[in-house]
Amino acid sequence: MSKALPIAVLAGDGIGPEVMIEARKVLDRIAEIYGLTFSFDEKLVGGAAYDAHGHPLPPETIAACEAAEAILFGSVGGPKWESLPADLQPERGALLPLRKHFGLFANLRPAVCFPALTHASPVKEDRIAGGFDVLCVRELTGGLYFGQPKSIEVRDGEKVAIDTMIYKQSEIERIAHVAFAAARERGKKVTSIDKANVLQNGILWRQTVTAVAAEYPDVTLDHLYVDNAAMQLIARPKQFDVVLAENLFGDILSDEMAMITGSLGMLASASLGQSKGGGLYFGLFEPSGGSAPDIAGQGIANPIAQILSAAMMLRFSFGLHEAAAAINAAVKSVIDVGFRTGDIYTGDEGQQKVGTAAMGDAIVARIK
Ligand code: IPM
Ligand code: MN
Repeated sequence: MSKALPIAVLAGDGIGPEVMIEARKVLDRIAEIYGLTFSFDEKLVGGAAYDAHGHPLPPETIAACEAAEAILFGSVGGPKWESLPADLQPERGALLPLRKHFGLFANLRPAVCFPALTHASPVKEDRIAGGFDVLCVRELTGGLYFGQPKSIEVRDGEKVAIDTMIYKQSEIERIAHVAFAAARERGKKVTSIDKANVLQNGILWRQTVTAVAAEYPDVTLDHLYVDNAAMQLIARPKQFDVVLAENLFGDILSDEMAMITGSLGMLASASLGQSKGGGLYFGLFEPSGGSAPDIAGQGIANPIAQILSAAMMLRFSFGLHEAAAAINAAVKSVIDVGFRTGDIYTGDEGQQKVGTAAMGDAIVARIK
């Protein structure tokens, strides 16, 4: 028996636990086929952890992540915990600290629109004929999210809110390298996003990315202002290959990219730290879509984003490229034969509307 691969499993809130069950089924099947052993350490996070332990990121959850080589994350948050003090809220008290604690500066969000799903996209079908495949590379531990000072205080008798946008050149360089290296393996084009016509951050971002590009002569570099990029993504999504953005711009644009693929429920993500060598990374792998409290507990959520996140984990944290590809192929195959959860069901001929578990089972059955 092979060495057990240690994974911290943090299913979280909302639809997190139900889609995580499907990802676990998929990983069990992969273990069987490839003769692997995963050791899963399940811990509470987010609102669920707050309810049980009074904190969204309890020490035992952090300890389990530290002992693991990857974190498979579901989603956190919901109306129940929105009025807690900021540092006890699921997002600010658990997700952001996890990213910072583990130095997960590189967020990869592949926005893939399958050819069979172009009609589910809000973008006109002729603009996305044949589908598209854009990778968002988002800087995840800097910028406005973490810059200091950050406060609400009283100045001249009224409240003022302060957030600080700050990037070190080295922070821009390391995320730019991630984007160029990724582009090399795909369409060889990076579109770098900034607001260099207004922000000092934009000027340094553009200069630094341009300098890094010199090390990748085989990759084309374009720059777009963020407002123009938001527009271009809807108008002509197929022109993009890798989109490189700082933290807040990447947050916003990646939701837009997700939506134009047809459903938020399809999009995986990987948040990676520095490479451990050999192409391996400690990482946190989570769906881009969030906890969807409105549909939680009904067995109708799309588990594909969670399952594809598990595939990203196999690839980036364990170097299991073949197993990851087998999962991706199984997902594509269930879509091709017409299985649809409610979010991607359009009622067209040949579609079969299924729930969370049936979608998971259909994928498991197609893993070869
Ligand atoms: C995301 C989410 C988070 C972010 C929130 C929940 C803090 O929107 O992962 O995109 O803004 O990064
Ligand atoms: Mn977001």
